[in-house]
Amino acid sequence: PDPGWTVHADLVVVGSGIAGLTVALRYARLVPGARVLVVTKDVLSAGSTRWAQGGIAAVLDPADSPADHMRDTLTAGAGVCDPRAVQMLVTEGPGALRRLIDHGARFDREPDGGLQLTREGGHRRDRIVHAGGDATGAEVQRALAEAIRAGAPAEASGPGIEVIEHALVLDLLKDATGAACGVTLHVMGEGAHDGVGAVRAGAVVLATGGMGQVYSATTNPVVSTGDGVALALRAGAVVSDLEFVQFHPTVLWLGEDSTGQQPLISEAVRGEGAFLVDAAGERFMTGVHELADLAPRDVVAKAIMRRMLETGADHVLLDARHFGEEKWRTRFPTIHAICLEHGIDPVREPIPVAPAAHYASGGVRTDLRGRTGVPGLYACGEVACTGVHGANRLASNSLLEGLVFAERIAADLAGTRHRRPGTPVDDGREAGLADPRIRSRVQARMSAGAGVLRGGRSLREVRQALLDARWTPVAVQPCTEAWEVTNLLTVATALVATAAAREETRGSHWREDFPERDDNWWLGHLDVTLAEEGL
Ligand code: SIN
Repeated sequence: PDPGWTVHADLVVVGSGIAGLTVALRYARLVPGARVLVVTKDVLSAGSTRWAQGGIAAVLDPADSPADHMRDTLTAGAGVCDPRAVQMLVTEGPGALRRLIDHGARFDREPDGGLQLTREGGHRRDRIVHAGGDATGAEVQRALAEAIRAGAPAEASGPGIEVIEHALVLDLLKDATGAACGVTLHVMGEGAHDGVGAVRAGAVVLATGGMGQVYSATTNPVVSTGDGVALALRAGAVVSDLEFVQFHPTVLWLGEDSTGQQPLISEAVRGEGAFLVDAAGERFMTGVHELADLAPRDVVAKAIMRRMLETGADHVLLDARHFGEEKWRTRFPTIHAICLEHGIDPVREPIPVAPAAHYASGGVRTDLRGRTGVPGLYACGEVACTGVHGANRLASNSLLEGLVFAERIAADLAGTRHRRPGTPVDDGREAGLADPRIRSRVQARMSAGAGVLRGGRSLREVRQALLDARWTPVAVQPCTEAWEVTNLLTVATALVATAAAREETRGSHWREDFPERDDNWWLGHLDVTLAEEGL
């Protein structure tokens, strides 16, 4: 669609979670006077960051070391991590966390003032920093949003950061050399910025978060529709590792008909001593892995699924009654309140849980500076595939990745000679839009055939269903819902293609027809392009 209005910036950041806001803040500090524009699909705080419960993993305990954190990350990633990226993550993490604290984030502390540290699945040391007990993301989002607001252009002393809310990104603008020179947006706004418009900028950072909404049940908020990955695919960037969708093992089970965003029961609950049992009260993680209930996330999710398949149950139970009222209220106030809201008192009864889609370990492929294959286009946070997560992200490494790579991107941008945005050329894309009414059908097909357990046959069926769904018999009016479903179809098709291609079981990718890990063939990344999938 033709842009009805155009704004100009030095840098446009798409997305307003920990990754996007940190890039904006750091870049604005490093390049005084630069014009930074943050565009976000809903309001500033609507993305995934604010829902994060457990925390941020960082080596702060003298008994811990970056080498230990690296080993745990590589073990969870099951051979697909990029070791150089992991090394950067674990060595630069503590400094990045301290700078987040400087931005105003307040974390839980010990009586002596030191940061309180806990443990989660796959970690062999206490290294998870948390806030408000189990409301880490909310605190991080609050602190960053306040820092951004304090830096609004009205305050002459602050960095020049402007925010446009309710702005869904559509496509990348590229110049005649193929370099990024901005984005098109659909804004549900008023006045100057309404309808389809364009931002012209010398560099574009995608920080659009995840794609959990391709499934029926997910911990992701409704805005997580894979918009950044879909844009990158259309722009010709390399997208990798999409088959590695992480299913969080313990999501509050609200009944089989419950769809959309589901409440998370943080791994930190198991980190503090809760354990899983089946309907007969039998503990089933002991003997499965040396870390038992604190095994890496994919191991726990698979054990839960196996027990559900064996017993015909649709959920298992998480027992933390021994915490008692006081600990539930003080250490896990958010989860305690959520459980009570749904009629479950975790002090008196075990919590029904089941796995649900949680995190895309893959995404838009970047180098260690956050650069994608398209000059001027960067990706950061869940939308990116930096190589730190491999086949299965280690708990609480996601906020950390957002922080560390945001800083790397800001530094790279600041150190690069300012590039005036080129003149956009038409990419000739057919602006076909899918019918918004098919959203729940797509999600149901993905959950049934490409979910926690998949096989060649189920993946072929989903692929066909997705292709059929693209041919909509009705003329679709351009609107946010239609663009979102179009993006969901695009990323779902790409995900199904890589899941079908990887004929082995590894990390969070679980093939029932190829149940073994095969290191002879499958240690590398699987890239996907739009042309290959006929999208
Ligand atoms: C959790 O608190 O269990 C989620 C943390 C994460 O996804 O890293």
